Amino acid sequence: MTMELYCRAATLVFFTLLSFSYASSSSMYSPTSQLSEIWTPLENQGWKPCDESRNKPTLPEKSEGYIQVFLDGGLNQQRMGICDAVAVAKILNATLVIPYLELNPVWRDSSSFMDIFDVDHFIDVLKDDISIVKELPEEYSWSTREYYALAIRDTRIKAAPVHASANWYLENVLPVLQSYGIAAISPFSHRLTFDNVPMDIQHLRCKVNFQALVFVPHIRTLGDALISRLRNPQPSNEEMSSNYLQEVTSSDDNKNAGKFVVLHLRFDKDMAAHSACDFGGGKAEKLALAKYRQVIWQGRVLNSQFTDEELRSQGRCPMTPEEVGLLLAAMGFDNSTHLYLASHKVYGGGARISTLRQLFPLMEDKKTLASSFERAQIKGKASLLAALDYYISVHSDIFISASPGNMHNALVGHRTYLNLKTIRPNMALMGQLFLNKTMEWSEFEHAVVEGHENRQGQLRLRKPKQSIYTYPAPDCMCQA
Ligand SMILES: *[C@@H]1O[C@H](CO)[C@@H](O)[C@H](O)[C@H]1NC(C)=O
Ligand SMILES: *[C@@H]1O[C@H](CO)[C@@H](O)[C@H](O)[C@H]1NC(C)=O
Ligand SMILES: *[C@@H]1O[C@H](CO)[C@@H](O)[C@H](O)[C@H]1NC(C)=O
Repeated sequence: MTMELYCRAATLVFFTLLSFSYASSSSMYSPTSQLSEIWTPLENQGWKPCDESRNKPTLPEKSEGYIQVFLDGGLNQQRMGICDAVAVAKILNATLVIPYLELNPVWRDSSSFMDIFDVDHFIDVLKDDISIVKELPEEYSWSTREYYALAIRDTRIKAAPVHASANWYLENVLPVLQSYGIAAISPFSHRLTFDNVPMDIQHLRCKVNFQALVFVPHIRTLGDALISRLRNPQPSNEEMSSNYLQEVTSSDDNKNAGKFVVLHLRFDKDMAAHSACDFGGGKAEKLALAKYRQVIWQGRVLNSQFTDEELRSQGRCPMTPEEVGLLLAAMGFDNSTHLYLASHKVYGGGARISTLRQLFPLMEDKKTLASSFERAQIKGKASLLAALDYYISVHSDIFISASPGNMHNALVGHRTYLNLKTIRPNMALMGQLFLNKTMEWSEFEHAVVEGHENRQGQLRLRKPKQSIYTYPAPDCMCQA
């Protein structure tokens, strides 16, 4: 965003704040009327999770050997890897070793599978489908990450193609299992195709994602506590004395009483630099991001060949906190909205968030909702923090993400499975609207509402090549 545009965003924010006070003045899309609609849960769309009891799982009579996978990426990419690992083990009639989660250079959390997911629940839910072991037996204990890091090893499968077929595994991995009793697949992210996979294998992937994978009890307990605080906020003493009567009287007809929206904001330096967009921080920010881009990707950032304007109108720029705030305001959220910010760290820090907070003073996050005692167990652990955000996001009334990515996709999928409302920002439209320098607030509001009518969780069937973890129907869902 150019400096000029940045000012424009600020002006829009100013108008938004004004329009809160003169709600129904000009446009037919007055925030009040939208608000009542925006909080309405999705209607039954004719699909629900399939009844698991219809297909009886069968455990293979004999195991062909052990499958080990090493998963990189952040928590949500690893989640998909775990589901695929179960599927591959099933295809091969192998025993799965609890997946190893690699240390990610960006997130730097050394938490293991068992630190994040409830491993006993995982094994138990899948016990009729495949055998899973927490550790390799003594005779295979040599097969470690370090062992594979040191030299080329016969038991390592290094060249699994992206989206390999089930047959590829039967042809290339089964022989290794049969010769050595073990096969270690690394890298493994996105290594199993979504198409032409036997239906029982697809069902199994769904079962892992939506039933077997639950977080450890302390994440669930903390998540439930924070959700309860979002739903039943305790007014501060000050508010208590001055606004008590008003709150009591207005809460009855308040459609959003007890409800909250989760905003997932991924706006870190990595992402800002990689997008090659201009985020309105002026020359200094532009230079800092260009330098970062050079250091990390050595000029291999494709987007940098486009101008900021081109990138924006193609919808390739992640929305800044200010911009997503305007989107939310135009959709009808206001200063009575309980908003939970699911976010790691925001590039530009608190200043970047302040406009958003101005629009949504009831904005909370892990820090504001949890006590320091509660936070102690997860402090500095990116995967556990992400797990907590994921849990709260799955349980929110509305979810919206400011940028496409693994977390967005995982939650779109999970919330589709549960028929929960999810707003998918129309990035290209938003880019174009922010470029328009003559637009009034009411026009902006109108365009945003219209452009997102069909982007609130309406079920979309998976198309070829798309992920079943983002589009769970029809593979994981049945027509009711
Ligand atoms: C919220 O906005 C309304 C106007 O729509 C205003 O009267 C009220 O003071 C605002 N509340 C807060 C807490 O800012
Ligand atoms: C796996 O086991 C099933 C039955 O138990 C069998 O039909 C299938 O051929 C086996 N597949 C492999 C790859 O061993
Ligand atoms: C900006 O928005 C106004 C009002 O909707 C519209 O008339 C105008 O054509 C837009 N300008 C551009 C460059 O898209």
